[in-house]
Amino acid sequence: MKKSVAIIGAGPSGLVAAKELLQEGHSVSCYERQSGIGGLFHYQDDPSKVSVWKTCRLSSSMLVTYFSDFFPKWREAEPFEHRHLSHQEYVNYLTDYADHFGVTDCIRFNTEVTLVTRSGEGWRVTVVEHATGSSFTRSFDVVAICSGVHSEPHYPDFPGLETFQGQVLHAAHYRDPDSVTGRSALFIGAGESGGEIIEEASRHLDRSYLSLRRSVYVLPRFVNGVPNDYNGTRLLYSLPEFMARRTDEQALTMHRKLRRWLFPLWLLRKVMIRSRDALVPPCVREVVRCSIFL
Ligand SMILES: Cc1cc2nc3c(=O)[nH]c(=O)nc-3n(C[C@H](O)[C@H](O)[C@H](O)COP(=O)(O)OP(=O)(O)OC[C@H]3O[C@@H](n4cnc5c(N)ncnc54)[C@H](O)[C@@H]3O)c2cc1C
Ligand SMILES: NC(=O)c1ccc[n+]([C@@H]2O[C@H](COP(=O)([O-])OP(=O)(O)OC[C@H]3O[C@@H](n4cnc5c(N)ncnc54)[C@H](OP(=O)(O)O)[C@@H]3O)[C@@H](O)[C@H]2O)c1
Repeated sequence: MKKSVAIIGAGPSGLVAAKELLQEGHSVSCYERQSGIGGLFHYQDDPSKVSVWKTCRLSSSMLVTYFSDFFPKWREAEPFEHRHLSHQEYVNYLTDYADHFGVTDCIRFNTEVTLVTRSGEGWRVTVVEHATGSSFTRSFDVVAICSGVHSEPHYPDFPGLETFQGQVLHAAHYRDPDSVTGRSALFIGAGESGGEIIEEASRHLDRSYLSLRRSVYVLPRFVNGVPNDYNGTRLLYSLPEFMARRTDEQALTMHRKLRRWLFPLWLLRKVMIRSRDALVPPCVREVVRCSIFL
C-alpha cells in the first residue's frame, strides 16, 4: 500500500531511504536543515557548525563507498582508480545519485524538524523553515529518522576543564590548523578524527602531546597499492573480538584453518566470476581476490 513518508535528513542515509521508498511507489518528503545534501560531508566553513574539516578525505575507499546501484565508473573505458574521495567529491557523487534517482525534488533544504508526535496510526511532523522562522505541521504515515549519529559532539567530563584557561576544541569544530590557537596542544584520543587532525595540526605547533587510554592501531589507507578496506571481510568482522584481534600462535593457527575452509568458497566464486566475466568490472574481481585471503 502506498504510504506518505517524512524523511529527516538528506545525508547518505536519508538519500538512500528516499530512493528506495520512491522506487516502491511511496510519496516522500525529505527535510534537511542544511542548505545542501551530504549530511556530515556538507562542508561548513563556520566553525560553530558540525562538519568535516577542510582536507578531510574519506577513509572508506571509492569502491566500498559507492552504492552498488550507482557506480559511476562502471564499464567506462578508463581504468578504475583505487583511491579515497575528498568530502567535496563525495558530496558531488551524492548529488549525482540524488538527481539520477529523482530524489532531489523531494528534499526541502533549510527546514528543520523540531517535533514528531503520534497521531492515530501515523505521525504529525512539525518543521521550521530557517529563512522565515515560520513553522508548519504535516501528517505522515511513516517517519524515517536519518539524522545521523555524529551531529552532536561528545565532550568527556574532565574535572577541572571548566577552569582551564586555554582553548578547548572538539574535532567536530576543527576546520584547519588555524582553528588551533596557541603554540602547543594536548590531543585526546586517536580515533580516525584524532589521528588525522593530529597529523595535520601538529605540523603547525611547537609542541604536541597525545593522550591515549589504550593502544591504537594506525593503518595506512593503502596496503600494497590497494585500499586497506578491501582486506576486510564480513566473515572476519563477524568473528568474536577475542579471536579477531589476537596475533599469537593460537590465533594464527585458527587463521590458517579458516583459510583452508574458505578455499572451496573462494574457488566457487572465482568460477562464477569467470563465467560472468563480461558483467563484472575488473576492480570487483580484485576485491574478491583480496577479501577472502588476508
Ligand atoms: C570526519 C568523519 C569522516 C567520516 N568518513 C567516513 C568514511 O570515509 N566512510 C564512511 O562510510 N563513513 C564515514 N564517516 C561516518 C559518517 O558519519 C557516515 O558514513 C555518514 O555521514 C552517515 O550518514 P547519515 O545520513 O546517517 O548521517 P549524516 O551524514 O550525519 O546526515 C544526517 C543529516 O540529517 C540532518 N538533520 C539532522 N537533524 C535534523 C533535523 N532535526 N531536521 C532536519 N535535518 C536534520 C543533518 O543536517 C544531516 O544533513 C565519517 C564520519 C566523520 C565524523
Ligand atoms: N577520514 C575519515 O574517513 C574519518 C575521519 C574521522 C572520523 N571518521 C569516522 O567517524 C566516526 C567517529 O570517529 P571519531 O574518530 O570522531 O570518534 P571515535 O572513533 O569515537 O574516537 C574517539 C577517540 O577518543 C577517545 N576518547 C573518548 N573519550 C575519551 C576520554 N574520556 N579520555 C581519553 N580518550 C577518550 C577514544 O578512546 P577509546 O578508543 O579508548 O575509547 C577514541 O580514541 C567513525 O565511524 C570513523 O570511522 C572517519
